[in-house]
Amino acid sequence: TEAWRPDGDDPRAASGPVRVRVPAKINLRLGVGPLRADGYHELNTVYHAISIHDELTARRGDTLSLTMEGEGTGELALDDSNLVIRAARALAAYAGRPAHARLHLRKQIPLAGGLAGGSADAAATLVACDTLWGTGLARDELAAIAATLGSDVPFLIHGGTALGTGRGEAVSPVLARPTSWHWVVAIADGGISTPEAYRELDRLRDRGTAPEPIGSTDGLLAALRQRDPAVLAAALGNDLQAAALSLRPALADTLKAGEAAGALAGIVSGSGPTCVFLTRDAADAERIAGELAAAGVCRQARTAHGPVAGARIA
Ligand code: C5P
Repeated sequence: TEAWRPDGDDPRAASGPVRVRVPAKINLRLGVGPLRADGYHELNTVYHAISIHDELTARRGDTLSLTMEGEGTGELALDDSNLVIRAARALAAYAGRPAHARLHLRKQIPLAGGLAGGSADAAATLVACDTLWGTGLARDELAAIAATLGSDVPFLIHGGTALGTGRGEAVSPVLARPTSWHWVVAIADGGISTPEAYRELDRLRDRGTAPEPIGSTDGLLAALRQRDPAVLAAALGNDLQAAALSLRPALADTLKAGEAAGALAGIVSGSGPTCVFLTRDAADAERIAGELAAAGVCRQARTAHGPVAGARIA
């Protein structure tokens, strides 16, 4: 007979703390189609996971609680509106068990930065609680729950480089020979709300002042296979960049400063305001990050490489 367990948990449940690392994402290409009837835009995007990580630790508890440290502490609500809490509840409901855990988040990914930090934390929570509770779901089941939490959450379960379609929730990996790309990530003061960026793009398009949509991801996918950063640089693109620049005109100075410092290309990441710059190699990235920091055009300039794995037990 099985040992009596005080919390009635699955025998596969973890007894110690479960620590999960999850990356930030950028979009190598973000094509935004028309607004759909459900309020989302049809996307054609290539996601790319980079080496800036949040860390979520899950421990056994009698209730569901969340604490945090790092980026956004004191600003980010830790109540039921937090994507971490919503992810834990969604997994518990799916598995038909109580959502009991003590969760702690260590954040490096800025809030509302266009790096999908909140989505990353939701993905980390699904992977951590799945192990803590011994629910043992397949990655595809986790990705299906992830899609109910946000459009970017399924990608952050998978990581790497992947094509995103639908509202971004339909993810398929891009198979390429292993290459590391070296980035400089310019983190801005303050954030941009994602819905606001999409609304601004719709406004620009209605007025006829938006740039032509960047369209298909085919050129980008071909560029990835060539493994030449100059070729990849020429294929980067983001339809939301015009919206982010319209909401935050000073981002144009950040992009200019990165290119003046020798970056191969700079784009706004997702809905912004973070800007990312592709560089030739790790040393080039270090040098450009230093110049950007000195130019005073961002709150923080960091280096990162990609692709990296999605949410994983650390
Ligand atoms: O999916 P998620 O909750 O992260 O999306 C946040 C908001 O971003 C949506 O409510 C919507 O306003 C906007 N969005 C969109 N089209 C997408 C993804 C997000 O308009 N494909």
